[in-house]
Amino acid sequence: MMHSLRARLLWWVLLPLGAFMLVAGVMAYDAARQTADLLQDNELLASARTIGEDVDWSNGELTADIPPAALEIFESPYRDHVFYKVVAGDRLLGGTPDLDLPVSHKPADYPMFYDTTLDGQSIRAVAYQRQLYNFGMALTVTVIVGKTQASREGMVAQLWHPQLVRQGLMLVLALLLVLIGLTTELRPLMKLKDDVADRDPMELEPVRVDRLPTELRPIVDAINQCIARLKLHTSTQRQFIADAAHQLRTPLTLLDTQVECARQSVAEGPALSDALAGIHRTSRKMTEITNQLLLLARAESAPSPAPNVPVDMTQVVSSVLEELILSAQRREIDLGAEIDEGDLRVAGSEQLLTALVDNLVDNAIRYNQEGGFVTARCRRVSDEVVLEVVDNGPGIPAEMRAHVFERFYRGMTDVEGTGLGLSIVQRIAQSHGGTVAVAPGEGRVGLVATVRLPAWKE
Ligand SMILES: Nc1ncnc2c1ncn2[C@@H]1O[C@H](COP(=O)(O)OP(=O)(O)O)[C@@H](O)[C@H]1O
Ligand SMILES: [Mg+2]
Repeated sequence: MMHSLRARLLWWVLLPLGAFMLVAGVMAYDAARQTADLLQDNELLASARTIGEDVDWSNGELTADIPPAALEIFESPYRDHVFYKVVAGDRLLGGTPDLDLPVSHKPADYPMFYDTTLDGQSIRAVAYQRQLYNFGMALTVTVIVGKTQASREGMVAQLWHPQLVRQGLMLVLALLLVLIGLTTELRPLMKLKDDVADRDPMELEPVRVDRLPTELRPIVDAINQCIARLKLHTSTQRQFIADAAHQLRTPLTLLDTQVECARQSVAEGPALSDALAGIHRTSRKMTEITNQLLLLARAESAPSPAPNVPVDMTQVVSSVLEELILSAQRREIDLGAEIDEGDLRVAGSEQLLTALVDNLVDNAIRYNQEGGFVTARCRRVSDEVVLEVVDNGPGIPAEMRAHVFERFYRGMTDVEGTGLGLSIVQRIAQSHGGTVAVAPGEGRVGLVATVRLPAWKE
């Protein structure tokens, strides 16, 4: 329902306040009714007494001569109907015969107030008794005075309504104060919102906080931490673009020179062939850089965790070795595989895992000396598939090992390369929930690159 903080807080203030007002209103109504009842009942009793005084013996008979003053008490703007009845013993002396007597007849109960009806109108009545004596004879005279309820209701309203209005005004006042308070207190939050919303996308400075309630501080801290991470990421990204541009600029400059050379040597025959060979080398290098850059971009934008598709590492390794067998032969390197029997499936992308194996085996062939060997081993260790690419080349010195996974880092610059291979391998291993590490081989000879990937689970 309501998602505005202000509306919600307002609601939580109004709910108890409203409940309180309701109870107070009911109590005020009760008090008003009691007061009105008391006043009305007193009037009825006064009238009944006056009438009772006028009942007397006359010639041995009881007579009731009701003075108009007895009923004048009730004159009010509400035009109530007033009824009375005078009974001596069982004899009706005067008044309205239909006016009911109270149910109880115990003398102790008198004067007695009660509610009754007459001709369908509800009546408040009082019964008053008086003993009359004459020549030793005692007679009980009962006087009943009843009245319709209009003036009583009117009085209740008169007593109650001003209270109600007062409470309503208080409610409105409280509402106004709360609204003003909330608006003032929420201002820093709104300012924070504007500060974040109006930001330049390039501006990665932390949000400044002064005068912020303690409850909001964790939010601002979280935003600032997020900004800090974003800043780090952005600067890494910028550095990457700068490095990539730099990598591409060198072969481009070279290409420019080589084309210029080719143009000049058109006449000279054999020099042209050299120039074209150079152009070919450079353009191959550029293609390689571009391919590696694309692969890295693809590995970085790959969904993590990797897709839940089984990929058989046995097949991946064999296909990579098939691809690279020619370049191994060219360097007289003995390229082989030791693949265990059993389930060597992992979950992920076949294309990326192929790139991972390809980069490791390619390194092992490239950096090895002629006549060396390269072996790709693959086996299952509990719930992991472990891939090892072993060579007997120069290996990587300890101080270099920490850097080989950095982008564009190159150790042996006399061998062609881009410095992106191991970054790509690491990125792909991570996105498949695995790890990669490089270590010296057996007897400190060569290099072992080890990749551990979680095995495929049905
Ligand atoms: N099998 C290996 N033997 C020796 N050195 C290696 C081997 N694999 C990688 N390296 C070193 O690690 C560096 C980074 O490798 P990599 O990220 O694949 O980039 P690149 O091969 O393009 O230079 C290489 O320049 C090389 O010095
Ligand atoms: Mg490489």
